[in-house]
Amino acid sequence: MKLMATSRIFIISVFILFTLTVNAQADSSDHIFEKLNNGLAKTPPMGWSSWNQFGVEINEQLIIETIDAMVNNGMKDAGYIYVNLDDGWQQDKGNRKNKPLDFDKEKFPRGIKYLADYAHENGMKLGIYSGPGQTTCAGYSGSEGYEKQDADMFASWGVDHLKYDSCCSHKDASKEELKEAFYKMSKPLIENPKDIVLHACHCGWQNIWQWAGDIGANHWRIGQDISDDFDYPENREGYYFDVLDMLDRGQGLEGYNKPGQWNDFDMLIVGLNGKSKELVGAGASNIEYRAHFSLWSILSSPLLIGTDVRNLDAYTLETLTNKEVIALNQDSLGIQAKTVRKEGNIHILAKPMSDDSWAVAMLNRGSETQVISVNWLDDLGLDWKETKVRDLWQHKDMGVFPNTYQDEVISHQVIMLRVYPKNH
Ligand code: GLA
Repeated sequence: MKLMATSRIFIISVFILFTLTVNAQADSSDHIFEKLNNGLAKTPPMGWSSWNQFGVEINEQLIIETIDAMVNNGMKDAGYIYVNLDDGWQQDKGNRKNKPLDFDKEKFPRGIKYLADYAHENGMKLGIYSGPGQTTCAGYSGSEGYEKQDADMFASWGVDHLKYDSCCSHKDASKEELKEAFYKMSKPLIENPKDIVLHACHCGWQNIWQWAGDIGANHWRIGQDISDDFDYPENREGYYFDVLDMLDRGQGLEGYNKPGQWNDFDMLIVGLNGKSKELVGAGASNIEYRAHFSLWSILSSPLLIGTDVRNLDAYTLETLTNKEVIALNQDSLGIQAKTVRKEGNIHILAKPMSDDSWAVAMLNRGSETQVISVNWLDDLGLDWKETKVRDLWQHKDMGVFPNTYQDEVISHQVIMLRVYPKNH
């Protein structure tokens, strides 16, 4: 009997050992990287990025004028702090192994550090762009093989944000290869004492939202590039997403958003009006741009405006600097709004706020005016008998409403509400 018991224990032990070995082998094919966290970007980054309007046609004067404009037109005050150079600041095109990475001396005669210092003197921050390949998307030399050197170089320049873009160099790469590529840059950035926010940009491929936060990224694109359209009938050129496509793409990803880690719905197109040097699209109306801004705000996406902010018309500036709408984006809970009802062209998104109020976006996706109503219990799950409603675009308290609030929403408009229990 004793012998039988011993041999059973032996067989069970062998089985456990076998199972462990098989699991270890499974793990080794899915290499686990040390978890990294830089502790930055507790609210979604806000600022400006050069790409959507200017493409690679950027230079020192543009950046200085942009910083000055944002300080003077109220954008800095509204929270837009980052001024980010996208692709095109580099000196050389071609493979990194033959072309060292440096700034273009004609475009940036006083260098990047000069601009970072200028930004900091004005209470702003400076961002830069590179990628894990031999070249970037626009063909400039990338960081592959020189990650630590480049991380230290960006830090020595005083840079505060890095968009690290793998979508061209690693288009068909496996999740493992991508994780490694981003890890190689994230690690030295964290080891350097300079705080640098990391945007891991991979066009929403390989479910980047599932793993980029674990290797120290602060935000990641959930889709390919946005186009300058609100609702274009097809997927433009098989690559670009309009505003409604991007909105839909982000549904179901709410659980990946948290302070320090953000789903990025791509840079804002507000005010581009079809004038982009790089994006396709004929532009959108003021109502549509305002709806887009409302959605990105309630979704807690980074708010990086891509238009020329030196000459904003009054309507566009009012859209971009609505502090009541921005407050939804910058709320400390860091929650991405969920779709609570989508019926035909009626689309309602909502999220709880840190002060126990709720934010609600009533979107009309169609071409005809619609009456949209929101019911506190059925749509938001709130048993508030009486609810105070504030309209964030009208900056107006609308009153106290039992059960339901309703309003007329014109085509492609978003009405933004913040609702409170009556005695809040
Ligand atoms: C990709 C990105 C864009 C921009 C360009 C730069 O297309 O998705 O946002 O950074 O590269 O070349």
